[in-house]
Amino acid sequence: MTILVTGGAGFIGSNFIFHMLGKYPEYRVICLDKLTYAGNLSTLAPVMENPNFRFVKLDICDREGVYQLFEEEHPDVVVNFAAESHVDRSIENPEVFLQTNILGTQVLMDACRKYGITRYHQVSTDEVYGDLPLDRPDLLFTEETPIHTSSPYSASKAAADLLVMAYHRTYGLPVTISRCSNNYGPYHFPEKLIPLMIANALADKPLPVYGEGLNVRDWLYVEDHCKAIDLIIHKGRAGEVYNIGGHNEMRNIDIVKLICKALGKPESLITYVTDRKGHDMRYAIDPTKIHTELGWLPETMFADGIQKTIQWYLDNKTWWQTIISGEYQDYYEKMYANR
Ligand code: NAD
Ligand code: DAU
Repeated sequence: MTILVTGGAGFIGSNFIFHMLGKYPEYRVICLDKLTYAGNLSTLAPVMENPNFRFVKLDICDREGVYQLFEEEHPDVVVNFAAESHVDRSIENPEVFLQTNILGTQVLMDACRKYGITRYHQVSTDEVYGDLPLDRPDLLFTEETPIHTSSPYSASKAAADLLVMAYHRTYGLPVTISRCSNNYGPYHFPEKLIPLMIANALADKPLPVYGEGLNVRDWLYVEDHCKAIDLIIHKGRAGEVYNIGGHNEMRNIDIVKLICKALGKPESLITYVTDRKGHDMRYAIDPTKIHTELGWLPETMFADGIQKTIQWYLDNKTWWQTIISGEYQDYYEKMYANR
């Protein structure tokens, strides 16, 4: 079995590669990644010498390059993690989101049609469903919830999902889609809430909470997401969407306070800043389908997962300090100065 993993130098893709190479030593895993600001080759150092692993620096929008790679490797399964993934960046500059997230997905699926695969899996997000009100805890996203996007990021992910289903119906491509809630864990890029707050708290810098910090996200430990995708590509039904989430809703402010407490930092570091434009209020996944059909359940409780994550950032300072000392400084200045 040869699996092509796109976006494998990013947060979830790298965790997925570690999971697959660890669990299936007989599989060949090819990682295709453009190495944008969010991709980091050093993340893949632990598997670079593995004879069953190959890294290829490539843009999923590069049709010729992608076709060439399919000719060389003839992957059986493609798992597409490659994407522009940060909502705030999509609000500043939507264009690259449309290019990578929609057109890149098209190129990959065209390659799948041309060379033949047994499964194309699209890693999507709960953000395609829009948001839920805070005062209706009974409401959860199911696979039947209508698409109702808020940001250029979520609109681009939803457009890709529609295209994936169109390729299934029109060309019979054996596809699956997973829509997961917020992940956390090792190798999470420091622009995102949890690693940003850990890094800032460790440097005694202000902790920028958007709005009143009351927005709710449904947090899932990244390894549980990887295990769910592993199940879907092996046992999931073609043409189906699977929601993935851990029934673990938390308010942003509570997460930030928890990080302060775990690091022994004062809550006075918390600074309320101007809200994100179009900020989604609440996400909450109903994972009944993947549980009943595939037997998936989250294994890591948030209390354990967040401790493991904080410890990982304490033990791997070089990884994230290298990132935040580079061009990230300009990004941080642009997004947070005078906010
Ligand atoms: P990330 O930003 O950490 O990593 C994205 C990776 O894709 C990077 O390695 C980057 O170099 C690569 N990439 C970007 N554009 C590319 C291109 N044109 N060609 C090839 N490679 C390219 O993202 P992540 O958080 O790991 O998310 C991975 C996927 O999971 C995304 O599709 C995202 O929409 C989805 N998702 C993320 C979460 C989350 O909480 N992080 C939750 C649900 C779904
Ligand atoms: O739900 C899945 C999605 O989760 C994925 O599809 C996205 O790729 C991923 O980035 C994530 O999106 P969010 O926008 O939910 O994640 P983020 O970490 O950017 O923000 C989480 C919450 O924290 C959100 O309500 C905004 C808030 N926030 C974020 C940052 C970076 C702050 O209050 N301050 C911050 O500095």
